[in-house]
Amino acid sequence: MENNIVQHNFDLSENDYVKKHAHQSGVLWLTGLSGSGKSSIANFVAKELFEKYQIMILDGDDVRSGLNKDLSFTDEDRTENLRRVAEVASLFRQKGMIVLCSFISPLNEQRKKVREIVKDKFHLVYINTSLAECEKRDPKGLYEKARAGKIPNFTGIDSPFEEPNHSEIIINTANKSIEDCAKELINYIEKNFKI
Ligand code: ADX
Repeated sequence: MENNIVQHNFDLSENDYVKKHAHQSGVLWLTGLSGSGKSSIANFVAKELFEKYQIMILDGDDVRSGLNKDLSFTDEDRTENLRRVAEVASLFRQKGMIVLCSFISPLNEQRKKVREIVKDKFHLVYINTSLAECEKRDPKGLYEKARAGKIPNFTGIDSPFEEPNHSEIIINTANKSIEDCAKELINYIEKNFKI
């Protein structure tokens, strides 16, 4: 169907922004269970790199409180949630930002799709925390509720979480502080986002 959309050619290119920011742009997509540490790691990375890097954070709970509040946690709605976020992340990336996306993104098919939407400069970051550990931490009390049957389709309980089959970096969080995990990601950024 004809949609009558004609994209505007903006004068400033991604490269202009990259030059101004003096670092590469890109999307770092953090996948992992609820409670694995995705948001805390993104928080620490953004704070540490605040002075030198242009960083945007897109986080599951934030996005689902506004932009995507019409979506549930069925596989289909999660796929749509992630599709929209990947589109938004691409727009920020085109403006030279480093975009930290923290979303469970439980299925390899979903990770593949978001990678395809972003196309270039996409880095999948697997925050590898076992279900047992996430459940032990249970920072939002959601695992307890899910075990009691009060949250349908809860990831790791009655909804699947696949081990990523292709990630650029794996952060194993066992026996490490959030700061140490975040430092691994900071080292990765400092190494891979130079111009
Ligand atoms: S995703 O699967 O679509 O990528 P997303 O990262 O946006 O999930 O949202 C996950 C957050 O929503 C969790 O951290 C948790 O706080 C909350 N949540 C509420 N219901 C569920 C559920 N059924 N499964 C997982 N997380 C849930």
